[in-house]
Amino acid sequence: MTFRITYSVLDADLSELHRQFDAALAAVRGGLGGEYPSWVGGAALLSNDLLESRNPAAPEEVLGRFHRTPVAEVDRAVREARSAQRAWGATHWSERVRVLRQAADLLSERRLVLAARMTLEVGKSRLESLGDVEESADLLRYYANQLEEAQGFARPMARLSPHEDTRSVLRPYGVFAVISPFNFPLALAAGMSAGALLGGNAVILKPSEETPWCAEGLHQALVDAGLPDGVFQVLHGEGETLGAALVRHPGIDGVTFTGSRAVGADIQQRLLAGRPRPCLLELGGKNPAIICRDADLEAAVDGCYRSAFGLSGQKCSALSRVYVHEDLRADFLARLAHKARETAVGDPSLASVYMGPVINAAAVRRFEQAVTEARRDGVIHAGGERLRIGGALAGGHFVAPTVVELPHGHRLMREELFLPFVGVTGFRSLEEAVERANDCEYGLTAGIFSQRPEDVEFFMDRAEAGVLYANRRTGATTGAWPGVQPFCGWKASGSTGKGGCGPYYVAQFMREQSQTRM
Ligand code: SER
Repeated sequence: MTFRITYSVLDADLSELHRQFDAALAAVRGGLGGEYPSWVGGAALLSNDLLESRNPAAPEEVLGRFHRTPVAEVDRAVREARSAQRAWGATHWSERVRVLRQAADLLSERRLVLAARMTLEVGKSRLESLGDVEESADLLRYYANQLEEAQGFARPMARLSPHEDTRSVLRPYGVFAVISPFNFPLALAAGMSAGALLGGNAVILKPSEETPWCAEGLHQALVDAGLPDGVFQVLHGEGETLGAALVRHPGIDGVTFTGSRAVGADIQQRLLAGRPRPCLLELGGKNPAIICRDADLEAAVDGCYRSAFGLSGQKCSALSRVYVHEDLRADFLARLAHKARETAVGDPSLASVYMGPVINAAAVRRFEQAVTEARRDGVIHAGGERLRIGGALAGGHFVAPTVVELPHGHRLMREELFLPFVGVTGFRSLEEAVERANDCEYGLTAGIFSQRPEDVEFFMDRAEAGVLYANRRTGATTGAWPGVQPFCGWKASGSTGKGGCGPYYVAQFMREQSQTRM
């Protein structure tokens, strides 16, 4: 079966889409402040301990209250998962494919409401929220197709004698803990969960404490699609307490996590302390773009702008370092800074806004610290301040898109900031640029702008990153899509080298068994 990419956001008539989004937003706003349970063993779990989800564009606005799962309930959730997994793992693969496809269709049907919630909960622009929901549905379909194309991952092997018949069969591990981040609150929760579920595992999802509402939408779609009770549970709470207890539990057979490098390292340590178990990590990035002397400068500026400031720079794929040929440096900086200053920053529920807030007050503090260092050690060409309205600081977590000239090797050119903050420095030869781009512990995405095919080939051969783009105006380092760009972190950016959106994804959630029959 061929995979059809939805792309409906890109194809859509935008004025009609905005009208529909307005209606969905009004409906969603009408239901703010509701209470939602955690989900254990197919039943609502209520506690006296509520987690408030707030709007980063207007932090006084409570979107919903979520019952935290007490740490003491983790054990019950794991036991429920183990029990439910037995039947789910034994279900024929075609039934698992059917359920996940049905869930994908439900996500697509509900996309406006889910996207409106996401814009309020994450501060994502309208189109990016719609893209996230479409990506979630596409990931489910793409991974379902993978299982179908592989016919459940069972294949005959060579024979040692005519009386012997051997098959390699991939089978589930058991129970996967899925720990998902705030920035793609539906797509990443959905994608990681779908990989594990299609592989016949039960899933315990611990979504980011910043985005429990989006996780609730995924839970609802899976339940409505007919996933049996207990196969997918959702535990609300903080990573340091609940997430840590979950990955420490000996009944967990594997963990998949997307998020920061520090948390990923901590999860790996905890898992290593027990028996060997799979630990699939997609971590951060410090993604570079190289602008060669003969580059199409307008395309390069556009591509860099989108990748640095889309979703307020809060993507693991975001562009955060630019190496530009010395001859173009002044021109490139002036153009990128101009675009940054022109950005419509504000409440992302408005159609006219390109960049919303950052996720929370801690991110604003990180921004202020970075700006202090940038003033001291570099030259700020745009931004470097929090958003003001009429002279007063805006109420939400708003910061300005920031362009800074910095020396290569500076802390701000090495460490992931997860902010709308891009550092720029010059180079004289492509060898030097690629060397600098690679001189980094991370290796997630990287881009080049050059009109010389031999330069592009040099970059493709030498760049130490899992996802490479050349001359991509729609995103120098961002914008991977299911079934199109496999998304795999190299070096400190990931553990497996086989990423989401790619052809080997589902198999990673399964263990191989060799079956010989005489
Ligand atoms: N899929 C997103 C991108 O490539 C981030 O994970 O930008």
